[in-house]
Amino acid sequence: MFRGGSSASVVVAGTGAYVPEKILTNDDLSKMVETNDEWIRTRTGIRERRIAAPGETSSVMAEKAGRAALERAGVDPSDIGLLVVATISPDQPLPSTACIMQPKLGVVNAMCFDIAAACSGFVYAFDIAAQYVSNGSCGKALVIGVEKMSSIIDWQDRSTCVLFGDGAGAVVLERSSSSGGGVRSSITGADGSFAQMLRIEAGGCAEPVSPEVLERRGQFVKMEGNLVFKHAVRTMTDVAFKAIEEAGLKPSDISCVIPHQANLRIISAVGEKLGIPQERFVVNIDKYGNTTAASIPLALAEADAGGRIKSGDNVLMVAFGAGLTWGANVVRWGL
Ligand code: UT7
Repeated sequence: MFRGGSSASVVVAGTGAYVPEKILTNDDLSKMVETNDEWIRTRTGIRERRIAAPGETSSVMAEKAGRAALERAGVDPSDIGLLVVATISPDQPLPSTACIMQPKLGVVNAMCFDIAAACSGFVYAFDIAAQYVSNGSCGKALVIGVEKMSSIIDWQDRSTCVLFGDGAGAVVLERSSSSGGGVRSSITGADGSFAQMLRIEAGGCAEPVSPEVLERRGQFVKMEGNLVFKHAVRTMTDVAFKAIEEAGLKPSDISCVIPHQANLRIISAVGEKLGIPQERFVVNIDKYGNTTAASIPLALAEADAGGRIKSGDNVLMVAFGAGLTWGANVVRWGL
């Protein structure tokens, strides 16, 4: 849980995003597995998703989103003291994607690491970075959510391959002496007793990749979709209520909600339970599908660039993901 450690506030100084050029439509998918546009649209809200090119790795996409956020913030890369990359599709198991991209982006004075909290990865990373900036460990932090989900989903499994997409989003956090805006609350949580509900079974030390693993496609994402759906609605609603209360606000004070984009039906259900009208929710799942850790910063950057978020707005980011994990951040924009 975020506790502002000083009189200075932690503000979002800039946002940025990147998506690959290649679009994969629902009709394209219907030629690959037994599915159709109507099923995907009505069950999920997804119409198309982006697919990264072969050499377009997570570090490449993260670098582009990070550069856009730094430029929008007007921050020199060498002033960044912390780079956190949230991803479950890193370039390599070792070293971190943050370290791989660090010299290319020029954030040479930053401590660098990745975190793996799946679809909650960005809200976790945001929480961690806000603490570092708030307590003075660093003046400015770059937080990136990035995924090349196309490299870890099973293109023969229609229950998962229609859901995910590739992309990246980023924010720059910095200390500000103004007391009007900034991070007002941030709450994260997990329940590992549901760890196997959404998983990649092999490729870790429990079961290293082997011909047998490849044969049964154990290196790819597997999900109990129905169960995940129910937990998603409950935990996103609960953590959103807590974060709003912790911020000293009511749901009606929230001008803009950036929900994790897993399923349009999940977003609608969470909106109804919170009593926040749907038009206050930023939704881009139709264009990008579920981009896991990239989903919130990508939607946030698009909303910011499109003028959807105004100075003084209370913005709620709320996510749910494998682990199971969840989290929410409330930020008063600008000022
Ligand atoms: O990012 C965080 C983690 N992810 C999520 O939060 C995702 C949460 N879960 C979901 O969004 C939904 O559960 C899904 C979209 C994954 C599935 O929707 P559902 O309404 O729960 O469908 P279902 O799994 O109950 O499947 C209904 C039917 C099944 O056929 P039968 O058994 O009724 O004959 C499936 O085999 O739909 C079938 N089906 C498909 N049909 C066409 C499953 N996938 C597909 C498909 N195309 N791609």
